[in-house]
Order: sequence, then structure tokens, then C-alpha cells
Amino acid sequence: MNDFLRRILFLPPQASTVARTIDTLHYFVILTTMAGAALVTLVGGYFLIRYRRRDHDEPQPHVRAKEAKKVTLVLEWATIVGLTALFFVWWVIGMRDYVELRVAPAGSMQVYVTAKQWMWKFAYPEGAHSIADLVVPAGRPVKLVMTSRDVIHSFYVPDFRIKEDVLPGRYTTAWFEAIEPGTYQIFCAEFCGTSHSTMLGQVVVLAPADFQRWLAGEERERDVAGQRYTPPAHPYEEEPGKPVDLAREGEKAAADEGCLRCHSVDGTPHIGPTWAGLWGATVPLEHGADVVADEAYLTESMMDPAAKVHRGFSPVMPSFQGRLRPAETAAILEYIKSLRDVAPLPGGRERQAGKVETTDGGVAPLAPVTPEEDGR
Ligand code: CUA
Repeated sequence: MNDFLRRILFLPPQASTVARTIDTLHYFVILTTMAGAALVTLVGGYFLIRYRRRDHDEPQPHVRAKEAKKVTLVLEWATIVGLTALFFVWWVIGMRDYVELRVAPAGSMQVYVTAKQWMWKFAYPEGAHSIADLVVPAGRPVKLVMTSRDVIHSFYVPDFRIKEDVLPGRYTTAWFEAIEPGTYQIFCAEFCGTSHSTMLGQVVVLAPADFQRWLAGEERERDVAGQRYTPPAHPYEEEPGKPVDLAREGEKAAADEGCLRCHSVDGTPHIGPTWAGLWGATVPLEHGADVVADEAYLTESMMDPAAKVHRGFSPVMPSFQGRLRPAETAAILEYIKSLRDVAPLPGGRERQAGKVETTDGGVAPLAPVTPEEDGR
């Protein structure tokens, strides 16, 4: 049934674990609207024949309200109750599917996606970079953390039934788990300029062992589902074959950009909250609620630091909007993530700002670094 419907609707293969669920919803919508349309057509046809004018001189039969009342009342209630029940059943199922589709399973492999006019770039925490080809292992959930360097794009893999907008200055996520090795087309699904239609790529799904070899920079050419696959000539942005550690790049960027002048990485109290153990921690905010330090919060804190200030710290950080490249932002996030198991010293994320302890135990007045002083 699934395969039959898929073929008459010209849908692509179901290559990810969520594809079938999404298609089921698609079938449901199509079948219920077709059933609804058929019902309306049949009732309309029945009325057309039942109440047709048989003779030109014959008067129209008068339908009296009294006769019709009981029947219509039953029909009305049946319709109201039926539609409400249907709505709730599908709301519950739909909500469950929606949550499944939005929340990447724990233990997902993470890949950073940067979209720009007009290409897709992928960066792996282990270091590899690639352009246009997203190489992933089969049978493992992959979480994409995506951002754009310029305009709005949309990451679309029809075979996986995932499509997610990619926005400048913001992170969006999507996840999928590919079922079998093979290559699957990536499209950009948001008009983004002259060469929008050529902003293509492919997901190359490898067997887990092959994937490990690919990550290590070995075995360039291989069979993918019976087809010869040659990875692009420059899978690494830096030196070919030499993997770049994204966390180490982030450490460098954080030093270059001056982040480390205010944020410690070993848990020592400083002007800003320490990065040690920050990733995934609950951050108490100056005005009420708590937030979890995830990609979204940390990115927002880099771009708009005054939006959600850590309780006990002064909003002295300048915005890094336009100063950090998306690749640097991703690398810094990866660096902060790599520090998640470093335990902060007492006060590292609680201390009252306004004064900074100097190394000899004295107290120096707080002097925030402004972009001007920084020579930018
Ligand atoms: Cu990018 Cu269309």
C-alpha cells in the first residue's frame, strides 16, 4: 500500500528513518481531501437528480423544515463530533511526529553546515571539511547545525523528506538518519539569487567502516551502492589530507577575537562567565528565567550579548555581529563544547562582575574591551 501510493504520487524513495512517517501524513491528507471531495460531489449529484425540474410547468417541490429537522440535527452533530475527534486524533499523532522530526536523537553525529551563494559547506567536529558533498555513515542519526553567510537558503533533501531554512546570523537545525549507503540529491529550496538553481549538493551515505576511513582521509574513491564515487578533489579546506580540528580552530579564533580576555577556559572567575563546563549547563539570567547554553543561546550571546545576560555579570560585552565569520562562530561553539567536562572553579559562573581580581589577589576596576580599543 505504502509503495503503491508512493509510486502513484511520484514521490522519491524513502531513504531516511522519518520518510515513511512523513509520507503517511501526506497520504492521509490526500486521501481525506479526496474522500471529502467525493462526498460533496456525490451529495451534489444526488440533489441534482432528486430535485431536478421534471416538467417545465411543474412547481418546485416545497421542502418543509419540520420533516428535515430531525435528520439534519443528527447529521450536524455527527459531523461536529466526527470532525472534532478526527482533529484530536491527528493532532496527537501530528504532535508526536513533529517532536520526533524536530528533536535530534541523543548521540547524533553533528555536522556544521554553512550555506553561501551558491554552495553548501560542511564541517565535521573531527576536522574534515567538504564542499557540496555531505558524507555521513548509514544507520546513525546526523544533526545538522546550519547557518548562512549571506542570504536565506533552504537545505532540502527530498529522499530524506527534510527541508529547513538556513538563515544568516542564526542557527537552525535538522536531523536525519540515512538507511542505506547511496547518494542523495541536496537542493536549495529558497530562491537566493542568480545561481539558486545550481546550488546543489549530494549526501553521500557510506557504510560505517567506510565513513571512518573517509574521515581519516583514506581511500578516496569507492563504491557507493554500486556506483563509483570520487570525492571532490579538495575535501579539506586547509592542506589536503590534513584534518583540521574544529575545536582547535575555535580556540585560535577565540584568542584572535579577544574572547579569552574576558572568558576563562579553566573555570577561573573573570569578567565574563567562564567557558569551562558551560556547554549544556543551565544559565540563570539577569531578568528571570533560565536558559540552556546550547548553540542558539551561545550564538545569540555572541551576536546580541545584551539580550540574555548571565545573572551576576555586567552587560559589557560588545556585539560580534559582522565581526565573526559563521565558520569562526561554529568553531568557537565547538571549542566551548570541548570544554564541557572542565569543572568551573567556585564563582566562575556566579561571581559578581564590576571588579576583577588581579593575579596577586588585589582588585582592579573593570575595563571592558570595546571594539574601538581593540583597533577594529
Ligand atoms: Cu541558496 Cu537558493
